[in-house]
Amino acid sequence: MTALLATRVLPAGSAAAAEAVRVLAAGGLVAFPTETVYGLGADATDGRAVARLYEAKGRPAFNPLIAHVTDRPAAQALARFDADAERLAAALWPGPLTLVLPKAGGCPVAELATAGLDTVAVRVPDHAAARDILKAFGKPVVAPSANRSGHVSPTTAAHVAADLSGRIDLIIDGGPTPVGVESTIVACLGEPALLRPGGVPRAIIERALGKKLADAPAAPSGDDDAPLAPGMLVSHYAPRTRLRLDACRVEPGEALLAFGAALPAGAERGKKILNLSPRCDLVEAAANLFSHLRALDAAGASAIAVMAIPRDGLGEAINDRLGRAAAKR
Ligand code: TXA
Ligand code: MG
Repeated sequence: MTALLATRVLPAGSAAAAEAVRVLAAGGLVAFPTETVYGLGADATDGRAVARLYEAKGRPAFNPLIAHVTDRPAAQALARFDADAERLAAALWPGPLTLVLPKAGGCPVAELATAGLDTVAVRVPDHAAARDILKAFGKPVVAPSANRSGHVSPTTAAHVAADLSGRIDLIIDGGPTPVGVESTIVACLGEPALLRPGGVPRAIIERALGKKLADAPAAPSGDDDAPLAPGMLVSHYAPRTRLRLDACRVEPGEALLAFGAALPAGAERGKKILNLSPRCDLVEAAANLFSHLRALDAAGASAIAVMAIPRDGLGEAINDRLGRAAAKR
């Protein structure tokens, strides 16, 4: 990826799908049309690719992403469906409906893509160009709307280019997206709840369910990318073990979440040390953040000492998440 050259744009078709698959497999970023809006896709199972995606979008925080797959069996490899979720998927997939579900055991989606949550958002898009890519790639593709954070969602390839040209590897142009608004998001984690209104009207969802949807309070911020998970849902991953931020030394009994090659005093007695990035690479650090936190949380330490992490680039989002995780205690 280079910041100097305009991103290549290919017309949708089999050659474009093949090129998209090559880029995705190499950890790159591809914008492609869905029936709702254009998405910015990355290999959902590749934490580094997901970190680059957040970087390209300029997201100041890691909000969980939607995993796109070709069909219900592929979705079932990622998530557990209760009877309500089964009904919605049977009635409305493929289509502009996203389901937030408990992660399945062995769910291959990178921790960073779900922001460390135990839930995952899944969707089967109804657009030939998206389906061609997903089918040929054979793995889930995470795709937020292909805009810079805080901008409106793109419905043409030109909108994508205006926001992201030079920051991503490839844009597939499939013309204007037919629906034009994002997918409706429904959480099936108990009584089904509407998290975001979108392409499928509430009445159609309620008809498919045979009952009313619960309402979820909207996120207070005006950022269209802010997580809309309501208080009754887990909105942020938080470790059970206390976090001690900007640690300059490791106390006895503490685990260490390190960054960079120079470890602080007391690191040798850290019960467990995991390094976000020995070479101070913030993309690598973001990719490792939630999996390292989980592993250290399971280490039985009295606290997790966290070394200071720079605040530039993805460092802003990393520090945002660490701050939230520390504040939960
Ligand atoms: O139509 C769409 O949904 C488009 C196309 C590209 O598929 N995608 C899209 O993604 O709008 P994005 O990232 O802009 O919005 C996804 C929303 C975010 O508000 C995110 O917080 C929420 O889904 N979300 C994702 N995973 C979640 C989870 N596990 N729990 C609660 N909310 C989740
Ligand atoms: Mg968006």
